[in-house]
Amino acid sequence: MIILHTIAEVRQYVHTHRMQGKTIGLVPTMGYLHEGHLSLVRQAKEQTDIAIMSIFVNPLQFGPNEDFDSYPRDLERDSQLAASAGIDAIFAPSVDTMYPAGNGKSLTHVDVEVVTDTLCGAARPGHFRGVSTVVSKLFNIVLPDKAFFGLKDAQQVVVIQQMVRDLDIPVEIVPCAIVREPDGLAMSSRNVFLNDDQRSQALVLSRSLQMAAERVQQGERDAVALAAAVRATIEEQPLADIDYVQIVSMRDLSPLHTLDQPALLALAVRFGKTRLIDNIVLHVH
Ligand code: PAJ
Repeated sequence: MIILHTIAEVRQYVHTHRMQGKTIGLVPTMGYLHEGHLSLVRQAKEQTDIAIMSIFVNPLQFGPNEDFDSYPRDLERDSQLAASAGIDAIFAPSVDTMYPAGNGKSLTHVDVEVVTDTLCGAARPGHFRGVSTVVSKLFNIVLPDKAFFGLKDAQQVVVIQQMVRDLDIPVEIVPCAIVREPDGLAMSSRNVFLNDDQRSQALVLSRSLQMAAERVQQGERDAVALAAAVRATIEEQPLADIDYVQIVSMRDLSPLHTLDQPALLALAVRFGKTRLIDNIVLHVH
């Protein structure tokens, strides 16, 4: 396993392996790795010859009052975990390497419209512009055959797929299942910020999503009533502060009133300063 810091080093590394006929898989992350990230590495190793992980806390996707400064970072620990999962190379650039204009700013942006208007896009203005800009830079630097993204950030997957289609970027996006703690909490680098009370009350998220899936199995087709039931369940926890609970079309993230197509039930809930997201795909038969 090798750690690369500059764009030139990555280009050289990728070129060498391409010349040997190897396929390249990219796993973009912001580090502080957990089993969710490592599951992406394993899928990359199954599907491509060389798996490269980027570790970069991207200032462009954080709002002015968000946790860019306090976002957990530990490259030493991350490289050990990534190596144990089989990663071949880590790309860990500095902010100035990614944004040579200075101050973590870019003069050029990639802005995906419409699918960024809802859910986290509505709650975090500019967030997805920062994500699509950095991911397109990573695609241009690494030129991967496949890139692996977790459905934990379901809207992110939809946004990146839209970007790749619209800009004809020659990469296959591989969506990967959400990895959860044994008690159901979706794994997240931000979970370390939860105190014991918040951590135990946060279990309501996966529990309410599961409840909703069961109600759909039993025949519930009223998306508005279902979202209201999830909301009510979450509101029973005094430390939970709901940002959104929404049911949208899996195809274009437009709001759904009736469950007559594959739907995404997505939520964002604050526990203290920590904002958690989770979701489930609702299948109707
Ligand atoms: P980050 O939050 O570090 O997540 C990196 C990747 O890991 C994303 O594709 C995310 O969906 C996936 N992931 C996180 N938790 C997961 C879980 N519990 N199960 C499965 N996959 C999980 O998402 C980002 O970074 C950034 O926005 C990035 C794409 C790197 C651009 O900066």
